[in-house]
Amino acid sequence: MLAPGVHRVGDYRSAQRALTDGRLVHWLRRDSAPNPIAAGIARWLDAMDPAHRHPLRKTIAAALTPAAIGRLEPDLNAMAGRLTTRLLDAGEVDLFQIYARPLTKFMVLRILGIEEAAFAGFDDLLDRLEPNLRQALSPAGSAGVDQAFFASWTQATAAHAQGGGLLAALSADLRAAGPEADLPIFAAMFALAATSNIAPFIAQAAHGLAAQPDVWRHLQAEPSRLPPALEEWLRFCPPLAFVHLVAAAPVNDGRIAPGDSVLVALDAANRDPDLFEEPHAYRPDRNAAHLSFGHGPLACIGMIMARTLASLAIGHLLDAGRPFAEGQLPYPIVNLEPNIGEAER
Ligand code: HEM
Repeated sequence: MLAPGVHRVGDYRSAQRALTDGRLVHWLRRDSAPNPIAAGIARWLDAMDPAHRHPLRKTIAAALTPAAIGRLEPDLNAMAGRLTTRLLDAGEVDLFQIYARPLTKFMVLRILGIEEAAFAGFDDLLDRLEPNLRQALSPAGSAGVDQAFFASWTQATAAHAQGGGLLAALSADLRAAGPEADLPIFAAMFALAATSNIAPFIAQAAHGLAAQPDVWRHLQAEPSRLPPALEEWLRFCPPLAFVHLVAAAPVNDGRIAPGDSVLVALDAANRDPDLFEEPHAYRPDRNAAHLSFGHGPLACIGMIMARTLASLAIGHLLDAGRPFAEGQLPYPIVNLEPNIGEAER
């Protein structure tokens, strides 16, 4: 136990069990909500819980099927191509800000069904989403909520709720089965979930692979090896280090009491020596199952999109085919944000 009432699960099998134990719920559903935004977030999590059979989960799943992703792929490819050119033409770049983040924003706006002409208006709003949602969830949230930001976000999403994408589908669901006023907060939660892990993953995996010239060249020569190499990067370096659950009922013969926190350490489970040979080594051909997308009914609903986008994004960098001297990256780079890939602890 880390502190009274906090437990850490760090081995693979126990992590799987914890992630599928119905007595352990998402931490955000523990407390009474400190403000209307936090209450909307709690309703989103309920809607996303398969046990509640909310129509919204189905609607989101329908926007992320292989067929739906296939329809987006040509545009995602074109965008990745333009960003690769910009990246290679730049003298010094931040791989996260100049490449991964814009590509990810483009993806989420296309899924939501926002017209390209309106993208610029969403650019800054998407950047400010995470700090504002965090603020709304903090104990001091009610006082610190940036009402002007949420008003702008609400206005921007409402303007596109009649389009043909996920925003319109969510709007229809909420008219039928939930407070329609939840649309902006549900769109915000979707946008956050869809961008917060994949953007650092793309930047960090590209950086990590390119920093090993033999691996990079090997992938250039055999691009079909990229998906397993990325899967191993997910095991090796999960963007979300842990899932924070809370006991809704006694677990483990009461050793975990109602209200206790259970931190399911995905990074530690992914390196469980009982399951992975040389767990601390990155082996691009390992092809081993990991827990980075979670596990069980609450596992990431966007994992196919995540895999598609990461392969496509890093595939473009590999295709650019720039020769690079030993010890140098194949593209210019000045920094990665210091916290890339690290979840809050
Ligand atoms: C490498 C990239 C990604 C990783 C590692 C990842 C990981 C996860 C994990 C572990 C969860 C469960 C979280 C929990 O129970 O607290 C989750 C939930 C979710 N993910 Fe992903 N994800 C990624 C990319 C994506 C993408 C690209 C999308 C959509 C396009 C997406 C959409 C969602 C949604 C909607 C949820 C559930 C709702 C929520 O947590 O708010 N994810 N993801």
